Amino acid sequence: MFPLRRNRRLRTNEAIRSMVRETIIHPNDFLVPLFVVEGKGVKDEIPSMPNYFRYSLDLLEQEVKELWSLGLKSVLLFAKVPDHLKDNKGTEALNPNGLMQRAVKTVKNACPDMLVMTDVALDPYSSYGHDGIVKNGIILNDESSHVLAEMALTHAQAGADFVAPSDMNDGRILEIRELLENEGFINTGIMSYSAKYASAFYGPFRDALDSAPVDMVNIPKDKKTYQMDYANRIEAIRETEMDINEGADIVMVKPGLCYLDIVREIKNTFDVPVAVYQVSGEYAMLKAAAEKGWLDHDAVMMEQVTAIKRAGGDIIASYFAKDVVKLIS
Ligand code: PBG
Repeated sequence: MFPLRRNRRLRTNEAIRSMVRETIIHPNDFLVPLFVVEGKGVKDEIPSMPNYFRYSLDLLEQEVKELWSLGLKSVLLFAKVPDHLKDNKGTEALNPNGLMQRAVKTVKNACPDMLVMTDVALDPYSSYGHDGIVKNGIILNDESSHVLAEMALTHAQAGADFVAPSDMNDGRILEIRELLENEGFINTGIMSYSAKYASAFYGPFRDALDSAPVDMVNIPKDKKTYQMDYANRIEAIRETEMDINEGADIVMVKPGLCYLDIVREIKNTFDVPVAVYQVSGEYAMLKAAAEKGWLDHDAVMMEQVTAIKRAGGDIIASYFAKDVVKLIS
């Protein structure tokens, strides 16, 4: 009496395994986050993100050319703003000649076909490290959304293909969409961080941009009044539906690995492309374990990005993008 079905036949050797493999990782899957700083000749390693760097614009140019040569065709820009330019309203975020706006032009000059997405949020520009204007201990929703729309417009004017609001204020997608349409930027897309959780995995990113909420009286120490409670699932659907109705072209789930149940649910529920952000803490965890010799870096990295895609991630924003494409090319 042999087993009625021998599933192991399809696993006998690599040739058959690769023939029936359901999920294949390709350079097109990735969106590469990049951190930019002022200065010249700066390539600063981020202490909590081994082998990941902040670039000044001259070196950013080389970096995007290298990404392009590796087949990586889209980047997501984040600007590290010097302290003296930070205030409660994010004034510097609207500077048409600010670091972010110049970074967009730098990438487009170096690599005209590179897809450029920009982070739209106030935290790197905020003296309090919040994604909005703070008043009496509260992060103001509507006032912050107005600023975000103005900010997004300056990115579009600088040449960004997509703006990516990562703040989680209510109604900001509609505000951004309306302003872009009114100003003639009908083809500038919006990738909305729609289901973004208040996560402890963002620590290294806040080191990279020096953007953590400050420790001051009457300033909330965390982002729990605007980012989602990680215990919630149904709320992710509500958030995502709202952003799509307001005009988001791409929606996002963030962080990645702990939230793959949400990714699958969003993928099954909606028909727009789904991005997943494998965040800084996820990167740091694997780098640290690999450094200690406790995990096989490349094997775990491939397992993780494949799991994200298998769960329904059409776009993977990942600090591993370059490592992955080098490994698979
Ligand atoms: C903030 C923002 C964060 C990330 C992207 N945009 C951090 C936060 O919400 O505090 C995190 C990305 C990462 O951890 O890699 N607008």
